[in-house]
Amino acid sequence: MALAVGETEAGMAGSHWAARKVVIVGAGAVGSTFAYALAQSGHADEIVLTDVNRDLAAGQALDLVHGLPFFPAVDVRLGEPADYRDASVVVITAGAAQRPGESRLDLIHRNAAIVQSIVDDVVAQQFPGVIVVATNPVDALTYVAERRARLPHGRVLGSGTELDSARLRYLLSRQCKVDVHNVHAYVLGEHGDSELVAWSLVHIAGVPIDEYCRSCGNCAAWEVTRAAIERSVRDSAYHIINYKGATWFAIGLALVRIVAAILRNQRSVLSVSSLLTGAYGLTDVCLSLPAIVSGKGVERVIETPLLPRELESLHHSADVLRSAIKGLEGDRP
Ligand SMILES: NC(=O)c1ccc[n+]([C@@H]2O[C@H](COP(=O)([O-])OP(=O)(O)OC[C@H]3O[C@@H](n4cnc5c(N)ncnc54)[C@H](O)[C@@H]3O)[C@@H](O)[C@H]2O)c1
Repeated sequence: MALAVGETEAGMAGSHWAARKVVIVGAGAVGSTFAYALAQSGHADEIVLTDVNRDLAAGQALDLVHGLPFFPAVDVRLGEPADYRDASVVVITAGAAQRPGESRLDLIHRNAAIVQSIVDDVVAQQFPGVIVVATNPVDALTYVAERRARLPHGRVLGSGTELDSARLRYLLSRQCKVDVHNVHAYVLGEHGDSELVAWSLVHIAGVPIDEYCRSCGNCAAWEVTRAAIERSVRDSAYHIINYKGATWFAIGLALVRIVAAILRNQRSVLSVSSLLTGAYGLTDVCLSLPAIVSGKGVERVIETPLLPRELESLHHSADVLRSAIKGLEGDRP
């Protein structure tokens, strides 16, 4: 059948796998919540769970398969290393989570060794797909995974600030009393304490937020509200950890969004973490910028114009991440 202009064969030009198979490494709170949300989404044909604690992964898989009558068609099961060989996406959620009072960067030494050994197992199977890192500190560990995997550029990415951007959009939608789907906003830089809101990119219905605010009248003092929203986004994880020990629902959904863009070759603009090769003058560091995500992983980072103070904050975030990575050098085998 002839294709219309702009259409690609089955809409999947970037993908090179038969089934939409996702392997989740780490079947704890984040991994199992992601598995549940992904099964409900209908985006995957096959979901495979693995964990160093095999009983946990087996239990999660069994619990999930009992939901098959209620999910869209999907196969869920316990996995083996051989499952990497024909997987479309491997999502790494294995490792320690933050304890109350700990920053994400505090986890780096504990989790870098775990991510390295998982990546070694994945690439040993001639893995054809995309690696998505969610384990914290996600930017530093995306860098570790990228360097270790030596896959073509773009095929290793981190969930980055996709979750933080969702938190920002939610808070703005509440403040501005408008559907969250109509709020466009990005958190850039580290998924962590040095992240920044790119306020110059925030818009509602194409109207820049500062302008929108002038005509809306929901805030007494926008500058003050804006600063409080940014602080709240940055501290969200700390608040949730203080309440219930860890976060898992929204990250599970953010991972579904990222993995759907890969499986469906959607070329979605998402704020994910990837190795920078010159955007804003930054190289040799992984952090989040709006990027086009497709079946090939990160196809391209979009270098949107930023204000000088935003650029400065972005460079500061890159410096924080570079020194975190430098601190790992003594750990490397
Ligand atoms: N990127 C984000 O936005 C985001 C959000 C929330 C949590 N996280 C991070 O996700 C990670 C997991 O959090 P969680 O709450 O699910 O923790 P969890 O303790 O519930 O689960 C982690 C799982 O990893 C497994 N594991 C450890 N080493 C492993 C290995 N070598 N191979 C396979 N499995 C291994 C553990 O057995 C455990 O089941 C943490 O690092 C956390 O900080 C990231």
